[in-house]
Amino acid sequence: MVEGLGFPQRIIKATPSKALVIRINLVFLAFFIIVYAALLLRPSLSVYHENAASLVRCSIRECHHKDENGIKVKAVLEESTDHDESNINLPNYNKSKNIGLINETTSSHDELEIPSFLKKMLGKGKKKIGMVNMDEEDVSEWNRKYLGETIAVNFDHVTDFFKWEDLFPEWIDEEEESDVPSCPEVPMPDFKRYGKMDVILAKLPCNEKERRDVFRLQVHLVVANLAVKKGKRDWNKRTRVVFWSKCRPMMELFRCSELVKRQGNWWFFEPEIPKLEQKLSLPVGSCQLALPLWGQGIHDIYDVTKIQSSSTSYLKKKSKKREAYATVLHSSEAYVCGAITLAQSLRRSGTDRDLILLIDNSISAEKRAALASAGWQILVITRIRNPNAEKGAYNEYNYSKFRLWQLTDYDKIVFVDADIIVLRNLDLLFHFPQITAAGNDFSLFNSGIMVLEPSNCTFKVFMESRNDVVSYNGGDQGFLNEMFVWWHRLPRRVNFLKDFWSNSTINEISFKNELFGADPPKVYAIHYLGWKPWLCYRDYDCNWDVEESFVYASDVAHHRWWKVYDAMDEKLQSFCRLTKRRKTELEWERRIARKKGLVNGHWRINITDPRRSHLVKD
Ligand SMILES: *[C@@H]1O[C@H](CO)[C@@H](O)[C@H](O)[C@H]1NC(C)=O
Ligand SMILES: *[C@@H]1O[C@H](CO)[C@@H](O)[C@H](O)[C@H]1NC(C)=O
Ligand SMILES: *[C@@H]1O[C@H](CO)[C@@H](O)[C@H](O)[C@H]1NC(C)=O
Ligand SMILES: *[C@@H]1O[C@H](CO)[C@@H](O)[C@H](O)[C@H]1NC(C)=O
Ligand SMILES: *[C@@H]1O[C@H](CO)[C@@H](O)[C@H](O)[C@H]1NC(C)=O
Ligand SMILES: *[C@@H]1O[C@H](CO)[C@@H](O)[C@H](O)[C@H]1NC(C)=O
Repeated sequence: MVEGLGFPQRIIKATPSKALVIRINLVFLAFFIIVYAALLLRPSLSVYHENAASLVRCSIRECHHKDENGIKVKAVLEESTDHDESNINLPNYNKSKNIGLINETTSSHDELEIPSFLKKMLGKGKKKIGMVNMDEEDVSEWNRKYLGETIAVNFDHVTDFFKWEDLFPEWIDEEEESDVPSCPEVPMPDFKRYGKMDVILAKLPCNEKERRDVFRLQVHLVVANLAVKKGKRDWNKRTRVVFWSKCRPMMELFRCSELVKRQGNWWFFEPEIPKLEQKLSLPVGSCQLALPLWGQGIHDIYDVTKIQSSSTSYLKKKSKKREAYATVLHSSEAYVCGAITLAQSLRRSGTDRDLILLIDNSISAEKRAALASAGWQILVITRIRNPNAEKGAYNEYNYSKFRLWQLTDYDKIVFVDADIIVLRNLDLLFHFPQITAAGNDFSLFNSGIMVLEPSNCTFKVFMESRNDVVSYNGGDQGFLNEMFVWWHRLPRRVNFLKDFWSNSTINEISFKNELFGADPPKVYAIHYLGWKPWLCYRDYDCNWDVEESFVYASDVAHHRWWKVYDAMDEKLQSFCRLTKRRKTELEWERRIARKKGLVNGHWRINITDPRRSHLVKD
């Protein structure tokens, strides 16, 4: 992006002397510049791989593992030929010639009706239709009925050996202490065998109950790669893809707003190729970092200028204006201090992006004014209830986060939870597609910091799905992890969770504490799980007084937060006072801790925090 726009201007500056000599030269030159610029502006697919040096060698297109990961790849390919034995892969494969080879399984076959919109969509002339994961009968039948040419695209199907966890492992050795993370290879067709296609048609497997299905992902990826490599493009760089599927194709790849038509189980998309291309240039799953933030040494700041984002965003002149950080406050004022501190920390990180705060009417006018002076642009929303939540539950209205997708004045949002402080500039994240986030546990991402792309269409899908989709924790994180099972992994240091395994070794604990405390900072943001710093006395982390909260306790991280607080304006600080009720709770917990004689002994610390005697009403 940075390079792309600079180049053509430099060329134009250099041309006038030549152009003046002969007019024809000018015409040629202009033509040359246009072609050159077009080539320059094409998003380079390899940027991610180059930048990632030896790390991200593996993409969907070409997979060259540093360590071959042989066993897994082999297991994946085993038994995978049974579907295709009878098929002969020829570029313009004449289906009718091969019919005799195919063992008819007509009994289980429901013929697919050609959707009425297809002929209209393709218009006159003989068209080429690439067919993915379609029954043989359909391919030949369509060939006969339809005046176009159907091309069966063959690939080795993944087997049951290939688990979702292989692509989305709970943990990867992202700091490369003993290993270089790598991804197993998802088999793809031999794209060289195929010519250009007018439309790509695919039958998707679908299981509403289990969205983490590797074969389903594989079919999506085959189609996406075909669309990028072989799909004919229109002037808007869009190509045509048609799915037959009982459930919505994965929004992660085929964006909600790119759906042009739906007819029964038919879904017709016109995907923007550059956007798709960018996603395919990232690792297949969260088995590798989407992009290491560091060069060779993990403490270096990544060289942002080397990264290109998808072409559409850098063609928009004011693209910077269409990116923002955002957070959400709803249902209570408990996080107002957190949001104020977050805004201040963001500004101190040097970002010039808009800071957008969504609030509901639980936030008073006085607090709104403080939030605004901390740096937020405030938008008032109506909160959204989780229909499956219990009445009065602490997370009853956590679906309010969906409103972020309504911020359609922006192309990209980096959402940051209000219990986070940002210590290093995160603008780099705007280069990544929806959803890019750090890992949580299992195959899930943590929704505390995530890159998302606002879209009224996506918002509508959320609202329509909220009754049926089961969120594992009743919160937005569980819901979003069902809507976006395919996500890209950010380094842990981008959203460094303040928690410790209960079985953490002394070494692990001191390593984490060193990261929390480092100045200049070594982590990009700290996510304060457990009791929030502003709900404790500043003298120590009050998670030490409650046994269930020990895993969240870190005085180092606690003091790091107060350092940001100290740098704030006194007026803003006054919004971090304790309520009477919270003080009572704190004193009570200290007393219990003393009674139990908790060995961490924090209850012995004398409180010097002046907030102890400057309380606010509940
Ligand atoms: C495909 O097969 C049909 C029937 O066998 C034949 O008429 C047609 O010429 C073949 N087309 C090509 C391109 O080989
Ligand atoms: C098709 O498969 C069935 C059972 O799998 C087998 O009995 C039959 O002989 C096969 N037919 C042909 C034409 O290969
Ligand atoms: C999204 O919907 C809102 C109204 O609900 C509208 O104001 C806005 O223009 C829409 N955005 C787009 C990109 O269509
Ligand atoms: C729901 O939101 C509240 C307040 O914003 C937050 O403390 C809590 O962690 C969220 N719960 C879940 C399950 O996301
Ligand atoms: C700590 O416990 C978790 C699960 O409870 C386990 O996955 C992890 O390997 C354990 N770590 C150590 C160092 O024992
Ligand atoms: C706390 O204060 C008490 C009385 O003011 C004093 O006796 C005690 O030594 C202090 N403790 C610490 C750890 O400073």
